[in-house]
Amino acid sequence: MRETIARKEILSPGDYEAFQNFLQNACGILLGAGKEYLVSSRLSGLMRHYDIATVGELLNQLQHGRNPQLKSGIIDAMTTNETFWFRDMAHFNLLERRILPETSRSRPHRLRIWSAACSSGQEPYNISMVVEDFRQRNPGSFRGPVEIVATDISQRILEEARRGVYCGISASRGLSADQSRRYFNRNGDCLEVRPEIKRHVSFRNANLTKGYELLGRFDAIFCRNVLIYFSRQQKQDILERMARILNPGGYLLLGSTESISGHSDQFEMISESGGIIYRLK
Ligand SMILES: C[S@@+](CC[C@H](N)C(=O)[O-])C[C@H]1O[C@@H](n2cnc3c(N)ncnc32)[C@H](O)[C@@H]1O
Repeated sequence: MRETIARKEILSPGDYEAFQNFLQNACGILLGAGKEYLVSSRLSGLMRHYDIATVGELLNQLQHGRNPQLKSGIIDAMTTNETFWFRDMAHFNLLERRILPETSRSRPHRLRIWSAACSSGQEPYNISMVVEDFRQRNPGSFRGPVEIVATDISQRILEEARRGVYCGISASRGLSADQSRRYFNRNGDCLEVRPEIKRHVSFRNANLTKGYELLGRFDAIFCRNVLIYFSRQQKQDILERMARILNPGGYLLLGSTESISGHSDQFEMISESGGIIYRLK
């Protein structure tokens, strides 16, 4: 009870609205009504760290640019980084059975895949694992560079992803015993992604609601479990820009609860092997 009162005091209704606007401009995340508790609880550590008493004061400091670390600290705190190994397994089956064979026929020299909201790295490392297995089974495929570009808006989660070391629940969630032996080196209770899987993956900071044309063109884009946070207009813009940087016939993969319906007519939907993916028309 005492804590609830304290939390209410750090966030007045006017400050909540101003914070909603700040967050939407900074990273696209739409906070609906009634999420005051989420804001107070997620920001309390950061505010204690910088000795800031109220969200109003926090916004004021942001506006006057007195502390450049503040903005990325807020984004780190407000983003939801939930992920696990081989999430939506049907997508990795479709990568192996459809996307890679097709791409190796149409563009055999170079493979580029984007993991567009990579969180702590499980998704891009999983893509690299599937690609490595495919190359071993199909010698001579993708003779040129294989690049998996992994981006996220949160600096903190990107540092974790780059390390590629997973301990506790994150070292087991979604992994079979066989997969942990094949793709990782064990270090006590932790698993470290093997160098041959890591070497194809590069991590960068990128905001999906801003331009990302500089990333180059891709054969497939994994943009999973992130569009749910954005407005309808932002989803449409993001899908439009992704269509522009996909190679002809390239693939887009969204989270299992996300869909392009009503947001884009540039893709055909393919429903196969228990999963749904989208192919650029
Ligand atoms: C729920 S995780 C999804 C991780 C992974 N794609 C998966 O499906 O398991 C969502 C990720 O999106 C990132 N994110 C949120 N807003 C973003 C934005 N505007 N630009 C880039 N990444 C963003 C978060 O930092 C978080 O790591």
